[in-house]
Amino acid sequence: MQTSRPSRELSPAAPWWRGAVVYQVYPRSFADANGDGVGDLAGLRARLDHLARLGVGALWLSPIYRSPMADAGYDISDYCDVDPVFGSLADIDGLLAEAHARGLRVLLDFVPNHTSDQHPWFIESRASRDNPKRDWYIWRDEPNDWRAALNAGSAWTWDEHTQQYYLHLFLPQQPDLNWRNPEVVEAMHSVLRFWLDRGVDGFRIDVAHCTGKDPSFANHPRCLAGEPLADFNDQPYSHEVLRGLRRLVDSYPGERVLVGEVNIRSTASVVQYYGAGDELHMSFNFPPLDAPWDPVVLRTCIREVEEQLMPAQAWPTWVLSNHDNERHRTRYGGSLPRARAAAVMLLTLRGTPFLYQGEELGLEDAVITPETRVDPGGRDGCRAPLPWEPEFPHGWRGKPTWLPFPPGAAGLCAAAQWADDQSTLHLYRRLLALRRGSDALRWGDWAELDSSPTVLAYRRTHGADECVVLVNFADHEQAVAVPGRWHVALASDGVGEAAGYTGRVAAEQALVLEPVKE
Ligand code: NOJ
Repeated sequence: MQTSRPSRELSPAAPWWRGAVVYQVYPRSFADANGDGVGDLAGLRARLDHLARLGVGALWLSPIYRSPMADAGYDISDYCDVDPVFGSLADIDGLLAEAHARGLRVLLDFVPNHTSDQHPWFIESRASRDNPKRDWYIWRDEPNDWRAALNAGSAWTWDEHTQQYYLHLFLPQQPDLNWRNPEVVEAMHSVLRFWLDRGVDGFRIDVAHCTGKDPSFANHPRCLAGEPLADFNDQPYSHEVLRGLRRLVDSYPGERVLVGEVNIRSTASVVQYYGAGDELHMSFNFPPLDAPWDPVVLRTCIREVEEQLMPAQAWPTWVLSNHDNERHRTRYGGSLPRARAAAVMLLTLRGTPFLYQGEELGLEDAVITPETRVDPGGRDGCRAPLPWEPEFPHGWRGKPTWLPFPPGAAGLCAAAQWADDQSTLHLYRRLLALRRGSDALRWGDWAELDSSPTVLAYRRTHGADECVVLVNFADHEQAVAVPGRWHVALASDGVGEAAGYTGRVAAEQALVLEPVKE
């Protein structure tokens, strides 16, 4: 076995977010305290111990602001208040205090590209052509061929009252802000200050690549072919917007962080959004989120990150599931062994991993019927409520939950898994603990090792600290020679853990090896 592609080591003195694991909370589906069938902040507060025990370092909350909920909270009508369905400002203050007391940082979701059509700014903007806020949004006499996401058709909607079209890269209820207007920039900076002053540790920035629009409004062949503009919009002005946000965030003490959703499925494009260290601290890189359980595809994703992000000193992120995409267990054909092996990979690559709530339970997507469908974008399956208790309704109470539970909820619920030390939940807990205790895993160099085409093998090293990760994608056991003496620090199926490495990796098993101390 040979080592290839050695690269620069990072210092453990790096900021907190390089060493952390971030857990995405989708508040509507995490836990419900008031019995209305929709998760809320009080429900989340009551379950913080689950997260502290799991061992994550930070939470990212999908939007909790006031919203008519046309896009589950990504259509905001007041950026500086909490929607009553989630609670109140006092609840978020309490959550921040309780999370911080447990050593958990909290990131909020910042949605700069669009507001709700019910936001007072848009209500004013559409009131008349000479309204002072008219130019806060993007109005045109003629539409072009740009297409909206979420199956919404044209990105332009006609306003009968003022006889013009307004732009929306998502639903018609989500008009796009005009970031070239300095008043918009100032108003949105004030939003960030409002939350930074309350103590949030940073933001996930929704569609960070969308705020800048082509000023010529040229038609685009990909839109003509039916693709939404938000899938590939990549304009220089978005970088200027991000530099402004970064300057603001950097003016606060305490290493506040900006992680951007750059929803362009190209690692080469994503790297541009780190700027010269003056834009995003981190950007999501989504190719692994689309990848099937396939060693060729995943190996390519990992090599691209190492080859394109690392030389640019752009710290990577790793994500396999989120609230917009099929869960990875579902994507891998429903296989729990594969999902567990993937968790080992996710938490041992170089970069900051993002977990999506429920993946620590090994959940699959819920089955959605026409009767239970809520989302116009067809993303309900991965948004199903978390099961906490074995008995239906699984720790929820009162009204029926807003979406059905995922399959196998009784067996996969958190209580059942905390009681079983072989569970997926305990696997995640052990992985997180291993990572916390290992400089190699948190900061270390990454180098691929030669192996069979169906085994992904890599070494992580930091000074004298090292470990080797082996992921067997095949449905049969394979021999993998690793020179030296190793013991199994962790096995995705628990088999062989804490014993010497035998030189064999079981079917769809992933192992973390540490050197035997002489
Ligand atoms: C990306 C978010 O993740 C998604 O849920 C939302 O629909 C769009 N941006 C629009 O805000």
